[in-house]
Amino acid sequence: MKHFLNLKDINSKDLRKILVDAKKRKKLRKNLNTLDIDKGAPLKGKLLIQMFEKSSLRTRLSFYLAIKQLGGGALTLRSNELHVGSGEETLEDTAKILSTYGDGFMLRTDSELKIQQFKKYLSIPIVNGLSPDSHATQVLSDIFTVEEIKNKSISKLNISWVGDSNNVLNSLIAASVKFNFKLKIGCPKNYRPKKFILDWVKKNKREIFIYDNAKEAVLNSDVIFTDKVISLNDKVNKKKKLAQFTNFKITEKLLSYAKKSCIFLHCLPRGNEVEEKVFFSKQSKVWQQALNRIHVQKSILLYCFDKLR
Ligand code: CP
Ligand code: NVA
Repeated sequence: MKHFLNLKDINSKDLRKILVDAKKRKKLRKNLNTLDIDKGAPLKGKLLIQMFEKSSLRTRLSFYLAIKQLGGGALTLRSNELHVGSGEETLEDTAKILSTYGDGFMLRTDSELKIQQFKKYLSIPIVNGLSPDSHATQVLSDIFTVEEIKNKSISKLNISWVGDSNNVLNSLIAASVKFNFKLKIGCPKNYRPKKFILDWVKKNKREIFIYDNAKEAVLNSDVIFTDKVISLNDKVNKKKKLAQFTNFKITEKLLSYAKKSCIFLHCLPRGNEVEEKVFFSKQSKVWQQALNRIHVQKSILLYCFDKLR
């Protein structure tokens, strides 16, 4: 069994294998209905337990469908309905019960420590469904979407991120090292990526390019990513933070500095970091991006269960 927590801890070969499998599976499902099961039902009889300590639409639905389409089933828990959530049971005991009842555990949490503790006490695979420092399943799926649309390896493309330095960006930075692509980041000076991720890039003898100017970050770009300025775990003065990002909004004007063929991606939900005109333009591929999470997460689950061919 394998865990799927952070892209930086998974080797490039395995990440590529997941994407190759997802591409095959997606193609084979062309004429199938949402709840039809993939040929061979590779996760028949398996139960994925998912727990959300904060809101989710896409991750919840896509994991539910992912395990269903592989022949298994899903159960979704809210931490405030569990003893561990109210402090009436230890995390260790909870993890042991999850391991005996279920076959896999997907967790969305505000705490990196909690992920590590669950990892320690679970004897089943754990998948990170978003944490303060990582949104690995999202970004791996985004690499899939980029390659699907551009029909070439992401290593041949210029990728830009304009906006907050958050969990999604951390995973995108990790992906730039694992998949060997050029990443330019545009963000205010005091919102640069965290030291731990920049140090990791350096340790891997790679470089990412950071600008305090959105235009420079998107020049000649093939793909522009952004995300909400205020994330779910952000305990900040929202008004003050938003004000610092006024020059980092994705506008038609900003897009015009990128390649003509440039696409726009956003993991959603969105705030006002992107103009409606861009969001609903032909260059915006956000709906395809959201739907692809099912396909990639299926292959992530197969990786976790050592069932990736
Ligand atoms: N992109 C994403 O993870 O969406 P949800 O928060 O709705 O799951
Ligand atoms: N950065 C965002 C992603 C939401 C899917 C957050 O953590 O809230």
